[in-house]
Amino acid sequence: MKDVIHIGILGLGVVGSGTVALLQQNRQIIERKVGARLNIRRIAVRDIHKRRPVEVDRSLLTSNPIEVLDDPEIDIVCELIGGVSPAKEYVLRALRNGKHIVTANKEMIAKEGHAIMEEAGRRQLDFQFEGSVAGGIPIIQPMKNALSGNAIQEIMGIVNGTTNYILTRMTLENADFAAVLREAQALGYAEADPSSDIEGFDAQYKLAILSSIAFTCRVSLQKVYVEGITHITRRDIECARELGYVIKLLAIGSRVGSDAIQARVHPALLPVNHPLASTNDVYNAIYLRGDSVGDVMFYGRGAGMMPTGSAVVGDIIDVCRNLLRGATGRTPCTCFDQREMLPMDTVETKYYLRMLVLDKPGVLAAIAGVLGENEVSIESVVQKATAHQQAEIIWVTHRVRESNMRAALKQIDALPVVASIENWLRVEE
Ligand SMILES: NC(=O)c1ccc[n+]([C@@H]2O[C@H](COP(=O)([O-])OP(=O)(O)OC[C@H]3O[C@@H](n4cnc5c(N)ncnc54)[C@H](OP(=O)(O)O)[C@@H]3O)[C@@H](O)[C@H]2O)c1
Repeated sequence: MKDVIHIGILGLGVVGSGTVALLQQNRQIIERKVGARLNIRRIAVRDIHKRRPVEVDRSLLTSNPIEVLDDPEIDIVCELIGGVSPAKEYVLRALRNGKHIVTANKEMIAKEGHAIMEEAGRRQLDFQFEGSVAGGIPIIQPMKNALSGNAIQEIMGIVNGTTNYILTRMTLENADFAAVLREAQALGYAEADPSSDIEGFDAQYKLAILSSIAFTCRVSLQKVYVEGITHITRRDIECARELGYVIKLLAIGSRVGSDAIQARVHPALLPVNHPLASTNDVYNAIYLRGDSVGDVMFYGRGAGMMPTGSAVVGDIIDVCRNLLRGATGRTPCTCFDQREMLPMDTVETKYYLRMLVLDKPGVLAAIAGVLGENEVSIESVVQKATAHQQAEIIWVTHRVRESNMRAALKQIDALPVVASIENWLRVEE
């Protein structure tokens, strides 16, 4: 049996530094668990002179990734640079050189995972990606192992810490989106360019990965509906609160019949007593329902240097154990099934609808008439007088198909008595 396993790392940013720091900090216990010494042999970065949040022997650093990818001594390559290119090319080159891969790169997996996993599968190599979804929360390995006997019916998660922080602060401080976004950027919880988080794309990548594992099928990213949180206002949060709800950015994957699935990312109203409703600030949570296990919930830190480092190191340990016992490649890609991905129009849920109307008799009845014509039945309605002879009306509907709701909204928007549809959101239970 090998007594040293050599590791090459691509990237020494947030996650790379957390990975190296944890390997240093818990070296003894990690090596005892593995049964061999772990040696970081080379680390590729863009700028070898940059200050790092972790102490590393400078001679390990290189600005040439090929020195990691083509080093015949290296057993495991950790890809922690992010993005699709050149990360994908580096991962494929490492696989072709017989190296096992650990990565936290959700975008690369969501867009190119299948090709990479096929390459790893053909070569009986490990490709592990626990850190790619919900940072420090174990979810990929539990789904692939402990829960793998279940047919998963549904996954619902809060998988983006930035948007959860923004929505939590808006709720607790009665603050506007733009002000909280600036605060999140100052605290380092949001990127200078926050679009991937606030437009929902980060959550879309994560949901694509989770759904492909849960429903054992390939998930085309383009068919995962995505809507961000930029249109959520302080007023919507206030109205939701009065109705007994909080607003969260949810990633929802569900099985529909035996051959189809739905996957969608959007903000939604959740009842305050829902298990996910109290997941606040940068925390993430994933709730899933299996046919045998029932409801399971995972909760923890969904990003950050040490939490994501924890996931990457867990994967490294797993690969080392497989490697030492000749069992690599034992958990290959499980996308066996062909499933139709149903469009958003077919989703059935409840809706919250807030509008400004002229404050005069008959308006409520006119709007209720349009809703009724489109088979949208009403669970509750609240009308409040505002300034300028207008009234605000807040509706919550019963469950209805999204196509009906959209048709009704189009007609309501055209009614002369309706000044504006201020917002409409889905309500999940
Ligand atoms: N940050 C998180 O909390 C978190 C959580 C879960 C998953 N992830 C994922 O983990 C991955 C890394 O994220 P991160 O936040 O650690 O990113 P980061 O802080 O920007 O670090 C990226 C690192 O990669 C290096 N790098 C970039 N392009 C390179 C290239 N072409 N060749 C060599 N090195 C290159 C950079 O070098 P320099 O330092 O020299 O510029 C840097 O060290 C991403 O896929 C991300 O989605 C991140």
